[in-house]
Amino acid sequence: MVSYKDLGLVNTRDMFAKAIKGGYAIPAFNFNNMEQMQAIISACVECSSPVILQVSSGARKYANQTLLRYMAQGAVEYAKELGKNIPISLHLDHGNSFELCKSCIDMGFSSVMIDGSALPYDENVALTKKVVEYAHQFDVTVEGELGVLAGVEDEVSSEHSHYTDPADVEDFVKKTGVDSLAISIGTSHGANKFKPEQCTRNAEGILLPPPLRFDILKEIEKRIPGFPIVLHGSSSVPQEYVKIINTHGGALKDAVGIPEEQLREAAKSAVCKINIDSDGRLAMTAAVRKVFVEHPAEFDPRKYLGPARDELKKLYIHKCENVLGSAGKAE
Ligand code: G3H
Ligand code: 13P
Ligand code: ZN
Repeated sequence: MVSYKDLGLVNTRDMFAKAIKGGYAIPAFNFNNMEQMQAIISACVECSSPVILQVSSGARKYANQTLLRYMAQGAVEYAKELGKNIPISLHLDHGNSFELCKSCIDMGFSSVMIDGSALPYDENVALTKKVVEYAHQFDVTVEGELGVLAGVEDEVSSEHSHYTDPADVEDFVKKTGVDSLAISIGTSHGANKFKPEQCTRNAEGILLPPPLRFDILKEIEKRIPGFPIVLHGSSSVPQEYVKIINTHGGALKDAVGIPEEQLREAAKSAVCKINIDSDGRLAMTAAVRKVFVEHPAEFDPRKYLGPARDELKKLYIHKCENVLGSAGKAE
């Protein structure tokens, strides 16, 4: 049993309290490898932002849970070496069982998500409560979820989203004791968040997605005032990356995300954690494809993963400064 406190990590409680008060959101960036971790930490140190390092089930399968945990421990030291002791949480993204959450808690994660959103309501309550009871013994914070996002939620796939029903949130939070709640108000996972027929097109033919359901968010905030809300599926799918990818041998069709102004708006409310993974994937892919096309003789991984890491860092600084408003909040 390892406590995250001995690793220099923090849970999300303080981060969220400050974020709600300050009208900003904490970035939750997924990582699966060293370059992503370096980009996240160097970006957040440079702009002085607290950060949540997220590990999904897919990341565990790809990179190994133990290695990722040691990388997060290394991230704390790396941040100090770069000159700033920013608050860093290590969070399990979309945990789908009590056993998985327990295993992460036991090996030093400071926060876990138990995603029971696809279960019947009572089963979601029971599973979430069980995780909370275990996690809170070690001062680990827990994120639950109500409502189903469209797209793919790890192994849970759903054709259509089910918006969170504001009538459920008070009961869910009270019965489970969760520390934060992920809700569904129109975001979704991946780089194709909406079908073209759900969107309108602007003069340049760019797809414009339907707006987020701020009315549902407001209603939820009314029912659980000051309670930390989480938005998953919050990549904006920058069209400049899509263009670079498609002009350098890629084939992304109808890729569309959540406009950044809407996320900025959400961050001013009780939304205090915003999950971004796909935008990072697009930034890396665009940079790697560019190197491959422009320097076809290159075969040193550092020569394409290096530029990918630089592009990622730029993207994360932009998110903290201009979208989430978390830059400067680690002071
Ligand atoms: O919510 C999903 C995250 O983007 C993680 O995706 O399961 O492919 O690692 P993944
Ligand atoms: P995106 O696919 O929009 O980046 O969402 C990531 C996410 O919600 C991770 O849990
Ligand atoms: Zn998610």
